[in-house]
Amino acid sequence: MKQLFILAPILVLGFVHCGFKSLKSNSSPNGGAVPVNAAEILARPANFADVNQYVFGASCQHCHSSAVAAGGIVLESYASIRQNLTVVLGAIESGAMPPSGLNSFQSQLFSKWINQGAPEMPMSGPSASPSPSPSGGIVYLPTYTSIHDHIFHDSCLGCHRVGGKAQDVPLEPYGALIAQSSVVSPKNADGSTLYTAVRDGKMPTRSSHLPHLTVEQVNAIQQWINEGAQNN
Ligand code: HEC
Ligand code: HEC
Repeated sequence: MKQLFILAPILVLGFVHCGFKSLKSNSSPNGGAVPVNAAEILARPANFADVNQYVFGASCQHCHSSAVAAGGIVLESYASIRQNLTVVLGAIESGAMPPSGLNSFQSQLFSKWINQGAPEMPMSGPSASPSPSPSGGIVYLPTYTSIHDHIFHDSCLGCHRVGGKAQDVPLEPYGALIAQSSVVSPKNADGSTLYTAVRDGKMPTRSSHLPHLTVEQVNAIQQWINEGAQNN
């Protein structure tokens, strides 16, 4: 018991720094339907109510209720989920659970919740400010770091990661992205599929149900490439 309380925060802190990018992500039909207001849900500060409704409630609780308790695991409340967080992360990350996979909306919602420390209530902070700007308070800079952290992380890495559907087109680390000359041609955004694919709405793919990038996001990518696509 004591050990779990010590383990969970360490684990969560680890993910805050390196990002939680290795979730199984697919858009196959399963218990988790994508709500029409998915973008709105993903934009608000992470909280247990959303994750419980759209991830655990939709895709886990019919097998992990106290009545069924598959594998001896009950995932019915915030406390029971926090207590099992280590194995839950492992099971989702490896793709073992849920058996039919999570769709990309669920993966994003879950990884966002993990990255924000698996809170029960929304954390107050810049993203919870009462009058958020249209971009949710995020400023998209024309730098690799900003593009990686605020665009790739939220909209791309679910597929563009080792083991993902688009692992042959890596967007991270910087060196792997830049090594693909048709994807990034420095100082030539129009000749770079990284820019044209998001400008034309080809990426993220339609089947991912992720929203197209905003004008600010597309412009940041264009400017970064035209300024030489540096490792900044
Ligand atoms: C269709 C039923 C079903 C669904 C849905 C389901 N599980 Fe499971 N789960 C099982 C069964 C059966 C086991 C035990 C057998 C096993 O370990 O393969 C299990 C085992 C587990 C374990 C223990 C694994 C271990 O390594 O000890 C965890 C953690 C878990 N599930 C988490 C989840 C999470 C999180 C979800 C939802 C995202 C989920 N499960 C959805 C049936 C399900
Ligand atoms: C739902 C999965 C998915 C998501 C999300 C996704 N992609 Fe892709 N992407 C793919 C697949 C699949 C391919 C084709 C990969 C291949 O050819 O091996 C691809 C190809 C690409 C290519 C190469 C295009 C070409 O014409 O050669 C670029 C560039 C790209 N994606 C950028 C992005 C960016 C940037 C994002 C986020 C804004 C993104 N993708 C989000 C699945 C995805």
